[in-house]
Amino acid sequence: MLVPQIDLSDHVAVVTGAGGGLGRSHALALSERGAHVVVNDLGVASDGTDAGRPAADTVVEEITEAGGHAIASHDSVSDPDGARAIVAAAVEAWGQVDVVVNNAGILRDATLHKLTLDDLDAVLAVHLKGTILVSQAALPYMRERTYGRFVHTSSAAGLFGNFGQSNYGAAKAGVAGFSRTLALEGAKYGIRSNVIAPMAQTRMTEDLLGPLAGRLDPALVSPLVIYLCSEACEFTGEAYTVGGGRYARIATGFGNGWLVADHVTPDDIGDHIDQIRAIDTLHEPQSTMDEITGLASRLGIDPDG
Ligand code: NAI
Repeated sequence: MLVPQIDLSDHVAVVTGAGGGLGRSHALALSERGAHVVVNDLGVASDGTDAGRPAADTVVEEITEAGGHAIASHDSVSDPDGARAIVAAAVEAWGQVDVVVNNAGILRDATLHKLTLDDLDAVLAVHLKGTILVSQAALPYMRERTYGRFVHTSSAAGLFGNFGQSNYGAAKAGVAGFSRTLALEGAKYGIRSNVIAPMAQTRMTEDLLGPLAGRLDPALVSPLVIYLCSEACEFTGEAYTVGGGRYARIATGFGNGWLVADHVTPDDIGDHIDQIRAIDTLHEPQSTMDEITGLASRLGIDPDG
Protein backbone atom coordinates (compact mmCIF):
# COMPACT_ATOMS: atom_id res chain seq x y z
CA MET A 1 0.00 0.00 0.00
CA LEU A 2 1.24 3.50 -0.82
CA VAL A 3 1.84 5.63 2.28
CA PRO A 4 0.27 9.07 1.77
CA GLN A 5 2.99 11.72 1.67
CA ILE A 6 0.87 14.47 3.13
CA ASP A 7 0.30 13.80 6.79
CA LEU A 8 -1.53 16.40 8.87
CA SER A 9 -1.85 14.37 12.03
CA ASP A 10 -0.16 16.92 14.30
CA HIS A 11 -1.99 19.81 12.68
CA VAL A 12 -4.95 21.85 13.81
CA ALA A 13 -7.11 23.36 11.10
CA VAL A 14 -9.92 25.87 11.04
CA VAL A 15 -12.30 25.74 8.09
CA THR A 16 -14.89 28.50 7.91
CA GLY A 17 -18.25 27.91 6.27
CA ALA A 18 -17.60 24.18 6.56
CA GLY A 19 -21.17 23.09 7.22
CA GLY A 20 -21.81 22.28 3.56
CA GLY A 21 -20.51 22.56 0.01
CA LEU A 22 -16.80 23.15 -0.47
CA GLY A 23 -16.01 23.80 3.20
CA ARG A 24 -17.49 20.47 4.26
CA SER A 25 -15.43 18.71 1.61
CA HIS A 26 -12.23 20.47 2.79
CA ALA A 27 -12.98 19.62 6.45
CA LEU A 28 -13.52 15.94 5.64
CA ALA A 29 -10.38 15.82 3.52
CA LEU A 30 -8.28 17.51 6.21
CA SER A 31 -9.56 15.03 8.76
CA GLU A 32 -8.79 12.09 6.45
CA ARG A 33 -5.16 13.26 6.54
CA GLY A 34 -5.23 13.32 10.34
CA ALA A 35 -5.85 17.01 11.06
CA HIS A 36 -7.92 18.12 14.04
CA VAL A 37 -10.58 20.36 12.55
CA VAL A 38 -12.71 23.25 13.76
CA VAL A 39 -15.80 23.08 11.59
CA ASN A 40 -17.10 26.62 11.59
CA ASP A 41 -20.45 27.54 10.11
CA LEU A 42 -23.03 30.14 11.00
CA GLY A 43 -25.67 27.98 9.34
CA VAL A 44 -27.19 30.62 7.07
CA ALA A 45 -29.07 30.51 3.79
CA SER A 46 -27.09 31.36 0.64
CA ASP A 47 -27.94 35.05 1.02
CA GLY A 48 -26.61 35.15 4.59
CA THR A 49 -30.00 35.33 6.32
CA ASP A 50 -31.70 32.87 8.64
CA ALA A 51 -28.72 31.89 10.85
CA GLY A 52 -28.79 28.88 13.14
CA ARG A 53 -29.04 25.78 10.94
CA PRO A 54 -27.08 22.93 12.52
CA ALA A 55 -24.76 22.62 9.52
CA ALA A 56 -21.47 22.55 11.46
CA ASP A 57 -22.71 19.89 13.90
CA THR A 58 -23.69 17.54 11.08
CA VAL A 59 -20.19 17.71 9.59
CA VAL A 60 -18.58 17.23 13.02
CA GLU A 61 -20.71 14.08 13.43
CA GLU A 62 -19.57 12.83 10.02
CA ILE A 63 -15.93 13.35 10.96
CA THR A 64 -16.13 11.82 14.41
CA GLU A 65 -18.13 8.82 13.14
CA ALA A 66 -15.29 8.21 10.69
CA GLY A 67 -12.81 8.25 13.60
CA GLY A 68 -11.55 11.81 13.13
CA HIS A 69 -11.27 14.76 15.51
CA ALA A 70 -13.53 17.77 15.03
CA ILE A 71 -15.41 20.40 16.97
CA ALA A 72 -18.14 22.76 15.82
CA SER A 73 -18.06 26.54 15.88
CA HIS A 74 -21.18 28.57 15.13
CA ASP A 75 -19.67 32.04 15.13
CA SER A 76 -19.75 34.51 12.28
CA VAL A 77 -16.49 35.23 10.48
CA SER A 78 -17.57 38.81 9.86
CA ASP A 79 -17.87 39.68 13.53
CA PRO A 80 -14.51 40.50 15.21
CA ASP A 81 -15.50 38.66 18.40
CA GLY A 82 -16.80 35.78 16.29
CA ALA A 83 -13.57 35.53 14.31
CA ARG A 84 -11.54 35.49 17.53
CA ALA A 85 -13.86 32.84 19.01
CA ILE A 86 -13.43 30.58 15.96
CA VAL A 87 -9.65 30.56 16.42
CA ALA A 88 -9.93 30.39 20.22
CA ALA A 89 -11.99 27.20 19.84
CA ALA A 90 -9.05 25.55 18.07
CA VAL A 91 -6.52 26.78 20.62
CA GLU A 92 -8.65 25.80 23.61
CA ALA A 93 -9.30 22.32 22.24
CA TRP A 94 -5.87 21.47 20.86
CA GLY A 95 -3.44 24.24 21.89
CA GLN A 96 -2.57 25.58 18.45
CA VAL A 97 -3.74 26.51 14.98
CA ASP A 98 -1.64 25.56 11.96
CA VAL A 99 -4.09 25.88 9.09
CA VAL A 100 -6.87 28.31 8.24
CA VAL A 101 -9.10 27.74 5.25
CA ASN A 102 -11.16 30.88 4.73
CA ASN A 103 -14.17 29.57 2.83
CA ALA A 104 -17.37 31.05 4.32
CA GLY A 105 -19.42 32.92 1.79
CA ILE A 106 -22.78 34.32 0.78
CA LEU A 107 -24.30 35.70 -2.39
CA ARG A 108 -26.41 38.83 -2.92
CA ASP A 109 -26.20 39.12 -6.68
CA ALA A 110 -27.30 42.32 -8.39
CA THR A 111 -25.99 44.39 -11.26
CA LEU A 112 -24.29 47.58 -10.10
CA HIS A 113 -27.30 49.46 -11.44
CA LYS A 114 -29.50 47.71 -8.85
CA LEU A 115 -27.02 47.06 -6.03
CA THR A 116 -28.19 48.20 -2.59
CA LEU A 117 -25.87 49.32 0.19
CA ASP A 118 -27.13 46.42 2.33
CA ASP A 119 -26.13 43.88 -0.31
CA LEU A 120 -22.75 45.52 -0.75
CA ASP A 121 -22.03 45.61 2.99
CA ALA A 122 -23.22 42.05 3.62
CA VAL A 123 -21.07 40.51 0.90
CA LEU A 124 -17.94 42.53 1.71
CA ALA A 125 -18.42 41.68 5.40
CA VAL A 126 -18.46 37.89 4.99
CA HIS A 127 -15.92 37.38 2.21
CA LEU A 128 -13.42 40.18 2.63
CA LYS A 129 -13.71 41.33 6.23
CA GLY A 130 -14.34 37.74 7.39
CA THR A 131 -11.20 36.48 5.67
CA ILE A 132 -9.11 39.29 7.16
CA LEU A 133 -10.54 38.96 10.69
CA VAL A 134 -10.14 35.18 10.96
CA SER A 135 -6.61 35.42 9.52
CA GLN A 136 -5.70 38.19 11.94
CA ALA A 137 -7.01 36.15 14.88
CA ALA A 138 -4.91 33.11 13.86
CA LEU A 139 -1.73 34.99 12.95
CA PRO A 140 -0.21 35.43 16.46
CA TYR A 141 -0.41 31.65 17.10
CA MET A 142 1.27 30.90 13.79
CA ARG A 143 3.97 33.52 14.30
CA GLU A 144 4.74 32.08 17.71
CA ARG A 145 5.28 28.60 16.26
CA THR A 146 6.87 29.95 13.04
CA TYR A 147 4.53 27.83 10.99
CA GLY A 148 1.18 28.41 9.30
CA ARG A 149 -0.80 27.77 6.18
CA PHE A 150 -3.63 29.96 4.91
CA VAL A 151 -5.86 29.06 1.99
CA HIS A 152 -8.35 31.77 1.08
CA THR A 153 -11.28 31.37 -1.27
CA SER A 154 -11.45 33.86 -4.09
CA SER A 155 -13.44 33.31 -7.27
CA ALA A 156 -13.35 33.63 -11.02
CA ALA A 157 -15.83 36.48 -10.45
CA GLY A 158 -13.14 38.40 -8.54
CA LEU A 159 -10.24 37.64 -10.84
CA PHE A 160 -11.96 37.58 -14.24
CA GLY A 161 -15.28 39.36 -13.58
CA ASN A 162 -18.88 38.16 -13.72
CA PHE A 163 -21.99 39.98 -14.89
CA GLY A 164 -24.26 40.81 -11.95
CA GLN A 165 -21.68 40.24 -9.19
CA SER A 166 -20.10 43.64 -8.58
CA ASN A 167 -20.25 43.24 -4.79
CA TYR A 168 -19.07 39.62 -4.79
CA GLY A 169 -16.41 40.24 -7.46
CA ALA A 170 -14.99 43.18 -5.51
CA ALA A 171 -14.91 41.14 -2.30
CA LYS A 172 -13.21 38.18 -3.99
CA ALA A 173 -10.62 40.39 -5.71
CA GLY A 174 -9.96 41.88 -2.28
CA VAL A 175 -9.35 38.41 -0.88
CA ALA A 176 -6.68 37.80 -3.55
CA GLY A 177 -4.97 41.13 -2.83
CA PHE A 178 -5.07 40.52 0.91
CA SER A 179 -3.49 37.09 0.51
CA ARG A 180 -0.48 38.53 -1.31
CA THR A 181 0.21 40.97 1.49
CA LEU A 182 -0.23 38.27 4.14
CA ALA A 183 2.18 36.11 2.13
CA LEU A 184 4.83 38.84 2.36
CA GLU A 185 4.22 39.66 6.02
CA GLY A 186 4.12 35.99 7.04
CA ALA A 187 7.12 34.77 5.05
CA LYS A 188 9.77 35.12 7.75
CA TYR A 189 7.52 33.27 10.22
CA GLY A 190 7.15 30.21 8.01
CA ILE A 191 3.61 31.25 7.08
CA ARG A 192 2.27 30.66 3.57
CA SER A 193 -0.84 32.27 2.13
CA ASN A 194 -2.44 31.13 -1.11
CA VAL A 195 -5.75 31.52 -2.88
CA ILE A 196 -8.08 29.25 -4.76
CA ALA A 197 -10.71 30.24 -7.29
CA PRO A 198 -12.86 27.10 -7.18
CA MET A 199 -15.64 25.78 -9.37
CA ALA A 200 -17.96 23.26 -7.77
CA GLN A 201 -21.55 22.24 -7.69
CA THR A 202 -22.92 23.41 -4.35
CA ARG A 203 -26.15 25.08 -3.27
CA MET A 204 -24.46 28.40 -4.17
CA THR A 205 -24.01 27.42 -7.80
CA GLU A 206 -26.74 24.84 -8.40
CA ASP A 207 -28.57 27.02 -10.95
CA LEU A 208 -25.49 28.49 -12.63
CA LEU A 209 -23.30 25.73 -13.97
CA GLY A 210 -25.40 24.24 -16.77
CA PRO A 211 -24.01 21.09 -18.39
CA LEU A 212 -20.77 21.30 -16.39
CA ALA A 213 -22.57 20.76 -13.06
CA GLY A 214 -22.24 16.96 -12.98
CA ARG A 215 -18.46 17.25 -13.44
CA LEU A 216 -17.90 19.70 -10.60
CA ASP A 217 -17.79 17.60 -7.44
CA PRO A 218 -16.44 19.73 -4.53
CA ALA A 219 -14.24 16.73 -3.66
CA LEU A 220 -12.18 17.59 -6.75
CA VAL A 221 -11.26 20.95 -5.21
CA SER A 222 -10.15 19.71 -1.79
CA PRO A 223 -6.94 17.85 -2.80
CA LEU A 224 -5.34 21.14 -3.89
CA VAL A 225 -6.52 22.80 -0.67
CA ILE A 226 -4.97 20.00 1.38
CA TYR A 227 -1.70 20.32 -0.52
CA LEU A 228 -1.64 24.10 0.03
CA CYS A 229 -2.39 23.46 3.75
CA SER A 230 0.53 21.12 4.19
CA GLU A 231 4.23 21.43 4.94
CA ALA A 232 4.86 20.23 1.37
CA CYS A 233 3.65 23.61 0.11
CA GLU A 234 6.44 26.16 0.15
CA PHE A 235 4.73 28.42 -2.39
CA THR A 236 3.11 31.59 -1.19
CA GLY A 237 1.16 34.51 -2.60
CA GLU A 238 -0.16 32.39 -5.43
CA ALA A 239 -3.63 31.77 -6.83
CA TYR A 240 -5.04 28.67 -8.47
CA THR A 241 -8.11 27.91 -10.51
CA VAL A 242 -9.50 24.54 -9.47
CA GLY A 243 -12.57 22.57 -10.45
CA GLY A 244 -13.74 19.64 -12.53
CA GLY A 245 -10.34 17.99 -12.20
CA ARG A 246 -8.30 20.89 -13.61
CA TYR A 247 -5.63 22.43 -11.38
CA ALA A 248 -3.81 25.49 -12.74
CA ARG A 249 -1.97 28.50 -11.38
CA ILE A 250 -3.34 31.94 -12.20
CA ALA A 251 -0.71 34.49 -13.18
CA THR A 252 -0.71 38.13 -12.13
CA GLY A 253 1.77 39.89 -14.31
CA PHE A 254 2.46 42.31 -17.10
CA GLY A 255 4.18 42.38 -20.45
CA ASN A 256 7.35 44.07 -21.64
CA GLY A 257 5.31 47.14 -22.50
CA TRP A 258 6.66 50.25 -24.17
CA LEU A 259 9.54 52.11 -22.55
CA VAL A 260 10.17 55.72 -23.35
CA ALA A 261 12.49 58.14 -21.67
CA ASP A 262 11.13 61.52 -22.70
CA HIS A 263 7.90 63.45 -23.10
CA VAL A 264 4.86 61.32 -23.96
CA THR A 265 1.53 62.49 -25.29
CA PRO A 266 -1.80 60.64 -25.22
CA ASP A 267 -1.37 60.29 -29.00
CA ASP A 268 1.95 58.50 -28.45
CA ILE A 269 0.09 56.06 -26.19
CA GLY A 270 -2.41 55.45 -28.99
CA ASP A 271 0.40 54.89 -31.48
CA HIS A 272 2.00 52.24 -29.22
CA ILE A 273 -1.11 50.70 -27.74
CA ASP A 274 -0.51 47.26 -29.29
CA GLN A 275 2.95 47.09 -27.71
CA ILE A 276 1.60 48.37 -24.37
CA ARG A 277 -1.15 45.73 -24.36
CA ALA A 278 0.98 42.79 -25.51
CA ILE A 279 1.59 40.09 -22.92
CA ASP A 280 3.51 37.51 -24.92
CA THR A 281 6.24 37.90 -22.29
CA LEU A 282 4.88 37.86 -18.75
CA HIS A 283 6.66 39.48 -15.79
CA GLU A 284 5.30 38.44 -12.39
CA PRO A 285 6.48 40.73 -9.61
CA GLN A 286 6.49 39.03 -6.21
CA SER A 287 5.75 42.26 -4.37
CA THR A 288 5.40 46.01 -4.87
CA MET A 289 9.10 46.40 -4.00
CA ASP A 290 9.90 43.86 -6.69
CA GLU A 291 7.87 45.96 -9.14
CA ILE A 292 9.68 49.16 -8.09
CA THR A 293 13.16 47.64 -8.43
CA GLY A 294 12.15 46.07 -11.74
CA LEU A 295 11.10 49.44 -13.12
CA ALA A 296 14.26 51.08 -11.77
CA SER A 297 16.37 48.51 -13.53
CA ARG A 298 14.44 48.95 -16.82
CA LEU A 299 15.10 52.69 -16.52
CA GLY A 300 18.79 52.08 -15.81
CA ILE A 301 18.51 53.51 -12.27
CA ASP A 302 20.37 51.90 -9.38
CA PRO A 303 17.54 51.08 -6.92
CA ASP A 304 19.96 51.48 -3.99
CA GLY A 305 21.52 54.67 -5.29
P1 NAI B 1 -22.17 27.13 0.41
O1 NAI B 1 -23.27 28.12 0.48
O2 NAI B 1 -22.50 25.69 0.35
O3 NAI B 1 -21.14 27.33 1.61
C1 NAI B 1 -20.89 28.54 2.25
C2 NAI B 1 -21.02 28.32 3.74
O4 NAI B 1 -20.61 29.50 4.43
C3 NAI B 1 -22.46 28.02 4.18
O5 NAI B 1 -22.51 26.77 4.86
C4 NAI B 1 -22.81 29.19 5.09
O6 NAI B 1 -23.67 28.83 6.17
C5 NAI B 1 -21.45 29.65 5.57
N1 NAI B 1 -21.42 31.04 6.01
C6 NAI B 1 -21.99 32.11 5.40
N2 NAI B 1 -21.79 33.21 6.10
C7 NAI B 1 -21.02 32.86 7.17
C8 NAI B 1 -20.45 33.58 8.24
N3 NAI B 1 -20.63 34.92 8.37
N4 NAI B 1 -19.72 32.92 9.16
C9 NAI B 1 -19.54 31.58 9.06
N5 NAI B 1 -20.07 30.83 8.06
C10 NAI B 1 -20.80 31.48 7.13
O7 NAI B 1 -21.32 27.54 -0.89
P2 NAI B 1 -19.95 26.98 -1.52
O8 NAI B 1 -20.14 26.95 -2.97
O9 NAI B 1 -19.50 25.77 -0.82
O10 NAI B 1 -18.97 28.20 -1.23
C11 NAI B 1 -17.78 28.11 -0.46
C12 NAI B 1 -16.87 29.24 -0.86
O11 NAI B 1 -16.42 29.06 -2.21
C13 NAI B 1 -17.52 30.62 -0.82
O12 NAI B 1 -16.59 31.58 -0.34
C14 NAI B 1 -17.83 30.89 -2.27
O13 NAI B 1 -17.95 32.27 -2.53
C15 NAI B 1 -16.64 30.25 -2.94
N6 NAI B 1 -16.81 29.93 -4.34
C16 NAI B 1 -17.61 28.89 -4.70
C17 NAI B 1 -17.74 28.58 -6.02
C18 NAI B 1 -18.49 27.38 -6.48
O14 NAI B 1 -18.41 27.07 -7.68
N7 NAI B 1 -19.23 26.70 -5.62
C19 NAI B 1 -17.12 29.41 -7.08
C20 NAI B 1 -16.24 30.42 -6.59
C21 NAI B 1 -16.12 30.68 -5.25
